[in-house]
Amino acid sequence: MTIQLKDLGKAVLETEYAVRGPIVARAQELERQGREIIYCNIGNPQALKQKPLTFLRQMLSLCQYPELMDKCPEQFPPDVIETAKKVLDGTKHGVGAYSESKGVRFIREAVAEFIYERDGIPVDPEAIYLTDGASKGVQTALRILISGTRDGIMIPIPQYPLYSATLTLYEGKQVSYYLDENRDWRLSRAMLDESLQEARRFDVNVKAICVLNPGNPTGAVLDKDNISMIIDFAREHGMAILADEVYQENIYNPGDSFVSFAKVMVERNEKDVSLFSFHSCSKGFLGECGQRGGYMEIRNIPNDVVAQITKLQSISLCSNLTGQVAVYCMVRPPRPGSPSHALYAAERDGILNELKKRAVILAESLNKIPGIECNTVAGAMYAFPRVTLPVNRKDDDYCMALLEEEGICVVPGTGFGQIPGTAHFRATILPPTNKIQAMVEKLEKFHLRFK
Ligand SMILES: Cc1ncc(COP(=O)(O)O)c(C=O)c1O
Repeated sequence: MTIQLKDLGKAVLETEYAVRGPIVARAQELERQGREIIYCNIGNPQALKQKPLTFLRQMLSLCQYPELMDKCPEQFPPDVIETAKKVLDGTKHGVGAYSESKGVRFIREAVAEFIYERDGIPVDPEAIYLTDGASKGVQTALRILISGTRDGIMIPIPQYPLYSATLTLYEGKQVSYYLDENRDWRLSRAMLDESLQEARRFDVNVKAICVLNPGNPTGAVLDKDNISMIIDFAREHGMAILADEVYQENIYNPGDSFVSFAKVMVERNEKDVSLFSFHSCSKGFLGECGQRGGYMEIRNIPNDVVAQITKLQSISLCSNLTGQVAVYCMVRPPRPGSPSHALYAAERDGILNELKKRAVILAESLNKIPGIECNTVAGAMYAFPRVTLPVNRKDDDYCMALLEEEGICVVPGTGFGQIPGTAHFRATILPPTNKIQAMVEKLEKFHLRFK
């Protein structure tokens, strides 16, 4: 007899991942039947026609097929050829060989320099792990933190479902803290205290707090005071911090800027809170989701625990080498004055300016629809509007009907978590501007007739 569903563990069966759930499966089915679908469900920029950066693709081509350097050197700017040679030297055996478990040391040194230049803080390349996207780093951190079924991890609500899904899979407890929709999805100490008290009432041992900055799906950007408050909270309660900073380049409000947890911790000389920070090639302006490049940086973690993290990482030998090279390109872009810089800067600025415009257009157009309210999209790649639905209707039904009737694929708020009794959906700002406008027009008609 073949393996049966009943043979699978409860944790596997209970794990949910809404961003690729039944609505997306139905969208793909409709597309196969010839329907045009506007995919607004996932932050996958190149699936929505964002062009890859030339520099990164030239680097990957040369690293994959170094013969090109001799066969057609005229196709590549000299600084790209020089950089590709350096990276290949750094890998020692090219991208077809396993690297150290933590990733190629030369690339980790480049990541360390990047953090130093960004934050002005000392960074140890040995505290950096190159990972298959940020996801794998987050999973490793959660894996080492959850040691039994009473262990809990605080996650924001709404959240990116990597967190809820991984907690279910590793049989830890999800301890939700709400973000305040009425105050631009702000994170408050009162909400953290409330959530911790509730967890303790159920005898949950809270080990860590996850913070998404900028947030997904909220787009909220934390300032330094917010970050200090979270560090104080974590210290007072003996918790570690997981800082998901994959959207650090996606900040749209003129007054906002990205502040890393690592910087605030070092500035405050904080030694008692363990920190795991994550970054990725999938977001920002690279949008290289398919290359699976990312890194995790750890701080204030004793050596014996570091050894355990490295052991976990070494079970899969190392992260993929193409992704590692993509990380190198993210942290070591062409310098001003180098031959490939002008094109790089133009492509980067083009993408970021376009995203900034779309963030405004999407939120403003949604707000014109009676019964839909959307906060400013301050960062990341999504709008998460609140929808007023007829009594007894749920956001799952709403989103499925929106797909069936208008060919628009968004994710229901239930997939991210929301205050009971409220309904939302998440739509990305990634489709081209004309598609966003067409999408909102269709959405308005649909919303007004939805019963
Ligand atoms: C907040 C957040 N963290 C992590 C990830 C995972 O990214 P990666 O492709 O680097 O695994 C995503 C992807 O959408 C995300 O939104």
